[in-house]
Amino acid sequence: MDSFLIEGGRPLRGEVTIGGSKNAVLPILAATLLTSDTCTLHRVPDLSDVRFMLKILESLGAEAEFKDGTVTVRAARIKGFGDYELIRKMRGSICILGPLLARCGEARVSLPGGCVIGTRPIDLHLKGLAALKAQITIDSGYIQAEARKLGGNTVFLGGRAGPTVLGTANVMMAATLAEGVTVIESAACEPEVGDLANFLVSMGARIQGIGSPTLTITGVKQLHGTEHEVIPDRIEACTFICAAAATRGEIIVHGSRPEHFAAVLDKLREAGVRVDRKAGTLRVSGPTRLKPADITTMPYAGFPTDVQAQFMALMCLAKGTSVITERIFESRFMHVAELMRLGADIAIEGPNAIVKGGKPLSGAPVMASDLRASAALVIAGLAARGSTQVHRIYHLDRGYERMEQKLRALGAKIDRVAGE
Ligand code: UD1
Repeated sequence: MDSFLIEGGRPLRGEVTIGGSKNAVLPILAATLLTSDTCTLHRVPDLSDVRFMLKILESLGAEAEFKDGTVTVRAARIKGFGDYELIRKMRGSICILGPLLARCGEARVSLPGGCVIGTRPIDLHLKGLAALKAQITIDSGYIQAEARKLGGNTVFLGGRAGPTVLGTANVMMAATLAEGVTVIESAACEPEVGDLANFLVSMGARIQGIGSPTLTITGVKQLHGTEHEVIPDRIEACTFICAAAATRGEIIVHGSRPEHFAAVLDKLREAGVRVDRKAGTLRVSGPTRLKPADITTMPYAGFPTDVQAQFMALMCLAKGTSVITERIFESRFMHVAELMRLGADIAIEGPNAIVKGGKPLSGAPVMASDLRASAALVIAGLAARGSTQVHRIYHLDRGYERMEQKLRALGAKIDRVAGE
């Protein structure tokens, strides 16, 4: 397993271009199963999760090609059952359920297990598909869904922690080919859901209310091929901005959509980070003295859970106390123990992490536990004195394209160490 070796203490300086959104492209790839025509996607990030999804599509009978950021998929003929082992390994693969059911009238995928950030239920996905008149059974760890013809309905998809992103995606995709009108109430409003909806519309789907909590989908007989450019990854943008701020650097971010992470920018400004928007770019300057700031993770347009860990790493460097409250996933604090190995002072009290920041961090070997936790450790390592080795960076490779190269171009001293 590869690791990163970081020599910290160098301010990031220079320019970085943000790639396509992982969380947008995964459901969009699943949606290519809804047509037998060719779909072409641009600005596709080269991530292990994307490669994985392409393998899943191939195991279902689709032809896929990935070259220079462009993916073409043609699912001329597909089967409702793919390679279960592959499907089991990636949680995001749950979003093939809706498209398969709509296209083939049946689908079988393995039940996703829990993961380090907590239990990951899919009851809302199943509730939504059942409302569209699918028969769903759970058998020996598999979800079996069948429907001779899906039918439109009104379904409320809000859960304990708010709307569900992939659940909304699944039900919306299934509804595009259902008979009649489907109304999704309490739909997720994340930009990635909007990007999927726009992709579906470009395939001929009829969807109203894109970006709002009420989606109205009028089923059509069939969808056709299309070409689409994936939105930039707001989480990658926020990660680089936090890294620049943590190292008191100054960077220019190209190709991002700041309106997609306004809540994060607001908190960064509160922490004293200077962020200037100019002609499609963002100039970020880290202050000499960061100020503490409290955050609570929320569904969009609130502060995203996927930036909680990176922001916590930043708050470890702000003099004073910050309270970080996690409201989306119950145990998404795996990075806390590792940040403490670097000298951070953090106490967990239920859903709150109390960060007493301002003490200098010093390098140490740390272990990445999940994708965004790994990003937090990289940020802390870049800001710490001395060397930090971040183990198990395969988590990072799932969601960050060429992260170490992009950081090196900004002046960071970071190397990938093969094996362990
Ligand atoms: C997606 C993102 C992930 C992000 C998360 C929340 C992808 C590939 N992943 O995950 O990076 O952290 O949104 O923004 O896009 N829930 C239920 N029942 C369900 C489904 C979810 O109770 O059927 C709960 C979850 O436990 C969680 C909350 O709803 O508390 C939000 O989860 P959800 O939006 O579904 O996350 P994902 O779509 O899996």
